[in-house]
Amino acid sequence: MHINLLRETIRIVYLSLLAGSKYQQHSALQTLYHGCFPAALIRVIHVPQNRPASSSPRARILLAPMEGVVDFQMRELLTRIGSFDRCVTEFIRVTDALLPARVFQRYCPELEQDSRTRSGTEVYVQLLGGDPLIMAVNARRAAELGSAGIDLNFGCPARTVNRRDGGSTLLQHPARVKAIVQAVRDAVPHSVPVSVKIRLGIRDSSQLSEICSGIQQAGASELCIHARTRQDGYQPPAFWSHIKPVRELLSMPVVVNGEIWNTQDADQARHESQCSDLMLGRGALACPDLSMQIRAHASGQAYTALPWPEVLELLQQSFDNTNPAHRRHTGNRLKQWLVYLKRQYPMAEALFQSVKQLKDSHAINSAIERHRVIALTQAH
Ligand SMILES: Cc1cc2nc3c(=O)[nH]c(=O)nc-3n(C[C@H](O)[C@H](O)[C@H](O)COP(=O)(O)O)c2cc1C
Repeated sequence: MHINLLRETIRIVYLSLLAGSKYQQHSALQTLYHGCFPAALIRVIHVPQNRPASSSPRARILLAPMEGVVDFQMRELLTRIGSFDRCVTEFIRVTDALLPARVFQRYCPELEQDSRTRSGTEVYVQLLGGDPLIMAVNARRAAELGSAGIDLNFGCPARTVNRRDGGSTLLQHPARVKAIVQAVRDAVPHSVPVSVKIRLGIRDSSQLSEICSGIQQAGASELCIHARTRQDGYQPPAFWSHIKPVRELLSMPVVVNGEIWNTQDADQARHESQCSDLMLGRGALACPDLSMQIRAHASGQAYTALPWPEVLELLQQSFDNTNPAHRRHTGNRLKQWLVYLKRQYPMAEALFQSVKQLKDSHAINSAIERHRVIALTQAH
């Protein structure tokens, strides 16, 4: 790096640490930590004018667990770019055994770093299963390994999972849900929160209040509701208003989730559900800084959305990081992410078309580079 640029970077980082807001300080520490000066410099310079203060200290934004999509690498990247209060691992299937430590560590490498991503965001291990005792012993092991919290999945609609007594199928038996939460709560130290993620129900929300009351009575710390039934799958709309009656009934924090793609959706979801806390899934992949946009919007601050050239930079980083881990499926994760990004960035469609048939990492790198040049040319 040119010595003047280095000097300027250090000066900005120093000033940010000295006098900056919490976010600026965070960005500055990121710069030091990752040592990737040019990209981080851009963010440090960009962000201060747009700094999105949280609308209320209690309004949290969580990153949704997404099996096969939001893995360790993606959590690392999204929590660095966005502003999340917590993440959750992909679900770990619990059937009839106490799983070895290496399974938890594979799903949650953050256990090695105080159960946090490198940008400091807490990560909870998520468990999925139908047997209270087995869930409890596995939860205890996750806690012993240092998980910041345990999240229980009662929302997964996948047939293979549901057929084996896990995920959303359990919602037809509120008493079983309660028993699992209770067993897990009793098994882990009180200092370790136990959160629960559910859908509205199987086909309708008629049992929702019974399910939620049971979860609260069992001692859960928090409940996230994906505002759709199992039957709804992932089809829009999400029925945020169905959460409101249970939100009023419960004293534990309730988080609204489902179909939040932009700041207007976030407003509407908050308004209809009466929940201030949000969980973002696909929206955070389509728009990696959506959490920042939502915070800025809620506090009436201007914010410039992440421009396409910076997204390309992230795509390149993601490809570099995931490629060694998925050698047999070179580029699959990149293509998968581009499918989400297409929704927000028209240029992602063009890149997707360029790489969709490619299986060779050199060819994929060249395609990304070509699109980087196009993006930079268009930006000037
Ligand atoms: C590909 C995919 C994988 C998912 N994996 C999980 C999971 O492992 N655990 C879980 O609780 N929810 C999982 N979900 C559900 C999401 O966490 C979230 O509830 C859902 O996508 C709705 O939020 P969204 O509309 O913001 O995406 C998954 C969803 C998708 C699309």
